Amino acid sequence: MPSLLIIKMRRYVIAGNWKMNQTPTETRSFIKTLAPLVKGKDNCDIVLCVPFVDIWVAAEEAAGSNIHIGGQNVHFEEKGAFTGEISANMLRDVNAEYVIIGHSERRQYFGETDETVNKRLKTALAHGLKVILCVGEMLDARQAGITEEIVSMQVKLDLAGVSADELKNVIIAYEPVWAIGTGLTATPEQADETCGTIRAVIAKLYGKAAADEIIIQYGGSMNDKNAADLLAKENIDGGLIGGASLKPDAFTAIVSAAQ
Ligand code: PGA
Repeated sequence: MPSLLIIKMRRYVIAGNWKMNQTPTETRSFIKTLAPLVKGKDNCDIVLCVPFVDIWVAAEEAAGSNIHIGGQNVHFEEKGAFTGEISANMLRDVNAEYVIIGHSERRQYFGETDETVNKRLKTALAHGLKVILCVGEMLDARQAGITEEIVSMQVKLDLAGVSADELKNVIIAYEPVWAIGTGLTATPEQADETCGTIRAVIAKLYGKAAADEIIIQYGGSMNDKNAADLLAKENIDGGLIGGASLKPDAFTAIVSAAQ
C-alpha cells in the first residue's frame, strides 16, 4: 500500500532562468527543440525566463505549447526617464506572463535592495504578472548559522504591503547564493528545511491556507541528476534553474522529474 507516498497538493513549477544567454535567433531554435520534448508533461507548469529581447520570439514560438514565458526583472515605475529599464506594461505587451524579481545577481551586482524588490514586486502584481521572488543567504550567513533569520527577513520585507489575494500570483524561489552557478547544491534536507522556514513565515503573515498553497522552489545548481531528490521533499515545489535550463535535454529531464 502506498503508505510512504507523499501526496503533494501543490503543483510543481519548473522555471528556467536563462540569465544573459541566447540571442533571439537562438531562442527560436531552442524552443522549437524543447516544445516537442516537454509536450504532454502537464503535471507541472513550465516557464522560461529569458532576456528582454528574446521574450517576443519566445512567446511566439511557445504559443500553443505548455511552455510559459517570463522576463528576469521589471522596473517599479510605469514609464519615464529610466534609461535601460523595462516596464511591466512592456513585458505584458510582448506576452510575458512571469517575471523574476530580486535574483541574487541583481542584488549583488546591480544594487537591488529589499526595498526596490518590494516596489518592483508590487508593480508587477498590479499589472497581472506572476512573480518569481528570489531570496537566499550568502555563504558567510549560512556558516554563521543565521540562514533562517536572513531568509525570513527578506521574505517579510519583499512582501510588505502585498495582500493575500495578490500572494496567489507569487512564487518564492529559495536560492542559497553559494549554490548558484557553483555546482554546489544544497542537500535536499538543507533546501527543504529553509523552504519550510519560508512556508512558516508565510503562515505567520498570511495564515496556514496561504502557506499550504504557495509554491516554493529551490534554485542553485539544480540539474538532471539531483532534481528528483530535491523535488521529492515536502516543502520543495519546483525549481528555478540556471545552467541546466540552457540544455534542452537536461531541462526536459528536470521537467520529467516533476511529473
Ligand atoms: P544555476 O542558477 O542553476 O546555474 O545555479 C540558478 C539561478 O541563478 O536561478
